[in-house]
Amino acid sequence: MKNEREHFSSRFAVIAAVAGSAVGLGNIWKFPYVLGDNGGSAFILIYVLFVVALGIPLMMSEFVIGRRAQTNSFRAFSKLSPTFRWAFLGIIPSLAAFFILSYYTTIAGWTLEYLYQSITGAYRSHSANEIATNFESFHTSIIDPLLWQFCLLGVTAYIVYAGVKKGIEKYSKIMMPLMVILMIGMCIKALTLEGASEGLKFLFSPDFSKINPQVILEALGQAFFSLSLGMGILITYSSYMSKKEKIHKTVGVVVLADTLLAILAGVMIFPAVFSFNIDPSSGPGLVFVTLPNIFNQMSGGFIFAIIFFLLLTMAALTSTVSILEVNVSLVQEELKWTRKKATIAVTTAIAILGVFCTLSFGVGEKFHIFGLTFFDALDYLTSNWLLPIGGAFAIIFVGFILKKEDVKAELSNDHSFQIKWFGMYYFVVRFIAPLAIVLILLNQVGAFDLLTT
Ligand code: PFF
Repeated sequence: MKNEREHFSSRFAVIAAVAGSAVGLGNIWKFPYVLGDNGGSAFILIYVLFVVALGIPLMMSEFVIGRRAQTNSFRAFSKLSPTFRWAFLGIIPSLAAFFILSYYTTIAGWTLEYLYQSITGAYRSHSANEIATNFESFHTSIIDPLLWQFCLLGVTAYIVYAGVKKGIEKYSKIMMPLMVILMIGMCIKALTLEGASEGLKFLFSPDFSKINPQVILEALGQAFFSLSLGMGILITYSSYMSKKEKIHKTVGVVVLADTLLAILAGVMIFPAVFSFNIDPSSGPGLVFVTLPNIFNQMSGGFIFAIIFFLLLTMAALTSTVSILEVNVSLVQEELKWTRKKATIAVTTAIAILGVFCTLSFGVGEKFHIFGLTFFDALDYLTSNWLLPIGGAFAIIFVGFILKKEDVKAELSNDHSFQIKWFGMYYFVVRFIAPLAIVLILLNQVGAFDLLTT
């Protein structure tokens, strides 16, 4: 069967889809709590620095590969350089995508449960303690978390199956603007709470004493994850991008949106946290325990809770769609399967792995791989190894395997406009970015332990 390659229909569609992928649980669930754990403002500063210095060139490089190759994220490398012996390593981002989706849907499933509970008012009359106990018993149970996870995967698969234009593009174009509006509304509410300024101070007045190597690495990892780098998503999505779009402009808008929305997530959460006198470093439970508690005490909290969890659900969904598409397009093109068959097969495989992730908070808690639960092991493997390696591979490919002229042609739409910044970009791609990634990996194997002890 012949598979015609679909393309996004407009600039807005590309931006909505790519930004939809970038803005996810990473921004609204993870960024605020990692920030809270790492001293607030200082973390934001380093994060933004990494996003600008490394995130932008890396994202542009994935776009160069994807748009030039016009194929899935695995085939792209060998298509662009048929004699390149290491092209098979292009499978790494797909593997990362596969693993990430299986554990990401666990958290996304919890989000659905809390959207449901917010609508039915389930925790409205609960005390802080009861809220904490209920979260504990919910996320360690078997049936409910699995049902919600499957539900989210089902909706994701439905959108992906519908195709690039009729699925991904259509829903991103609705959900992204809606998310921005809801988020701004939530921020206005948070900023009008009594004592909100304490939260803003925590977010925006840098305390450099909090910066240490651990915080720096955490910020780098978070920037990678949040921009959806190294997962094959950007290569896949940019292969659906028209040759007329300017890569650097699209990347600029997406990076700006992703960073602003992450910071806005902080603005929406921390003023409330401080206003109700809660410890800002409450870890992963921030969104599922601390916030419901705050919603209970806030005027209009019932509505704001629904808005918040709806927002979180949409953020998760536009991201899961993008990451499922990576492997669906790969299987569809490589095995010459129909989109339907590819979607069903990939989703089923992810659901099976996902069961282990979800259950690793309860019945599977004792099952360890290298001392980590199944969920943590997949998170560790992807965030600390596969994403940096996948990212390094893509950037080395652009810097050293592709011809410089080709890279320049792709970025300037065949020299139809000037790109004065090309020299700087190319320098970062060839030297700075690989060096940074090698440092991350060296740190992973403990090479710097001697220096810090
Ligand atoms: N940028 C996404 C986020 O911040 O949540 C990263 C991501 C994770 C994308 C998982 C897709 C996904 F399924």
